[in-house]
Amino acid sequence: MVRGSVGVIFGETGTFEFKVMVLDSSKVYRGAYVKVWHDASSDEKDHTWVLGQVMAIKRSSDSFSIEEAMKGQRTDKSDDRIVAEVMIIGSRDENGMLRSPVIPFSPGSPIFAADEGLTRAVLGLTGNEMDIGLLEGTNIKVQLSVNSLVQKHCSILAKTGSGKSYTASVLLEELLDQNIPLLIIDPHSEYSSLKVPGEGNEEDFSRFGVTPKGYGSKITVYTPASKSLNPDADELFRLNGMNLTVKDLTSIFPDNFSTTHTGILYEAIQKVRAEMETYTIEDLIFEVGNDKSKAKWNVISVLEQIRDTGILSPNPTSIEQLFQKGKASVIDFKGVTPELQSMIVASLCTSLFEERKLNRIPPGMLVVEEAHNYAPEKGFSKTTSTDILRTIASEGRKFGLGMMVISQRPARIDKNVLSQCGTQVIMKVTNPNDLKAISKGLEGVTSYVEEELMRLPPGVAMLVSNEIERPVLVDIRIRKSKHGGESVNVLKAARTVTPPPPVMSVENHETSRPAPVRRPMPELHPTVSGPDSDMMIDIPVVDIPEPASNITPPPKRQPSRQPRAEDGSEGGGKLFKKLFGANR
Ligand SMILES: Nc1ncnc2c1ncn2[C@@H]1O[C@H](COP(=O)(O)OP(=O)(O)O)[C@@H](O)[C@H]1O
Ligand SMILES: [Mg+2]
Repeated sequence: MVRGSVGVIFGETGTFEFKVMVLDSSKVYRGAYVKVWHDASSDEKDHTWVLGQVMAIKRSSDSFSIEEAMKGQRTDKSDDRIVAEVMIIGSRDENGMLRSPVIPFSPGSPIFAADEGLTRAVLGLTGNEMDIGLLEGTNIKVQLSVNSLVQKHCSILAKTGSGKSYTASVLLEELLDQNIPLLIIDPHSEYSSLKVPGEGNEEDFSRFGVTPKGYGSKITVYTPASKSLNPDADELFRLNGMNLTVKDLTSIFPDNFSTTHTGILYEAIQKVRAEMETYTIEDLIFEVGNDKSKAKWNVISVLEQIRDTGILSPNPTSIEQLFQKGKASVIDFKGVTPELQSMIVASLCTSLFEERKLNRIPPGMLVVEEAHNYAPEKGFSKTTSTDILRTIASEGRKFGLGMMVISQRPARIDKNVLSQCGTQVIMKVTNPNDLKAISKGLEGVTSYVEEELMRLPPGVAMLVSNEIERPVLVDIRIRKSKHGGESVNVLKAARTVTPPPPVMSVENHETSRPAPVRRPMPELHPTVSGPDSDMMIDIPVVDIPEPASNITPPPKRQPSRQPRAEDGSEGGGKLFKKLFGANR
């Protein structure tokens, strides 16, 4: 036995695989990296260390037969034979190219545990900026390159509770450490916890070589609802409500305007523009009210409901404010209905892409949690935000706008979006459709990879990237900041006395310019903070009082009336139900 060797090659060997009689079973296990000196070629310059990986391992005994087993348990196991199947990955030549041997290995050659240098070099783990964890079963750090991750996009896929948000946060921490601007679409209020230093035992932190850290000064949480609905938010998020054009309105709310409606709107906007330098949606409502057609009531109704979402403001949140070096802006969708979320994502991402193209904001990354809701695959549902997310996926890299797509339903995300991701971090997946969707999008994925994905333990991810030679398993490091996606303890909640729902008051934060009369945004689909999108609970609708008297209507004009779509035709009624789910 050669010193340090952990096994010996035997039997028939090939250039892609060989079998090994295992001598040290603590070093040879499924997934372990091993090396073998290849000197079968007569040309000495081909002699080199070759990296391989143990794909399967079997143990048997010649002396213990079925007859022996019938007699009872066996005590002496010393003559067990352990045989491993090793797949050859290859070696790097002097130009850094990966090469596979062309001549089979010699039976009798010793194999050794692979060293860090060879493993890194052959696998192509050459990034050195983002520390995401350890190569499974080793102490070798897995580091990614910021440029590759951001520019070529990245997806994080796994079933619920497998660690997607956790892993995403690990990547976000690393990106924040590198001062990359981040815009995070957060449907479950999970990412504000990036502010708080993590908790955990010291051993885990030291195993990964990190220390607890909060990113408080770098994170701003925005709410598109209100501070009373989302008291943890730092700022309100608002879209521009001034001087809206037909295009603005129809692109944010595409399904709500027919051609007739668009015509009426167009005419009204022309008239308002002729009279005023700046106008609000209230002015538009007034002007549409002067139209002679009956169809105007539908337009008015839709406009009123858009106004009533409260999302439009004369002081919109600027993209420049949201997307800054060293900052992460979290758009926390707590208390916002799915339809309004999609509209906000559509509008926000359109501006983000435009501003980036004009170089008004620095390169950075857009992070979309529960991406299947904002860019669903055809046939599942249709949302306003799909088109822009598809555009960013296909064109973002040209402009240095990266996208991180996170989802528990890979089969339900738009294929065009998923296929553009150069880095995939995949954790446990068991749904056959999702497995199929993942393997379709990955080159060279074998049935071995699918098998592996079904069995991944918590905290372990498969990393697939253009930069590395083959998928590797990564033991994702502990978070520096606190994890916010803890699941809801249903039993504990049931045993606790619930405080009354928050009072939904109208907030008027835009004091510098005339504010439109706004009704509070009813919270009809309050989301429970947690990792699971299925975790929505229905809370009875609270009666909302009319706006308090401290709200000033626009001084220039008063809306002519408050029309309702009484004829029950299409238009506002539907949108209102879509947005708020019930009547006021
Ligand atoms: N790498 C990890 N290290 C330690 N714990 C983890 C890791 N990944 C996930 N977890 C644990 O698993 C739970 C679920 O993770 P989470 O990211 O919220 O799931 P998902 O977003 O996929 O639904 C978390 O509460 C966290 O404690
Ligand atoms: Mg999650």
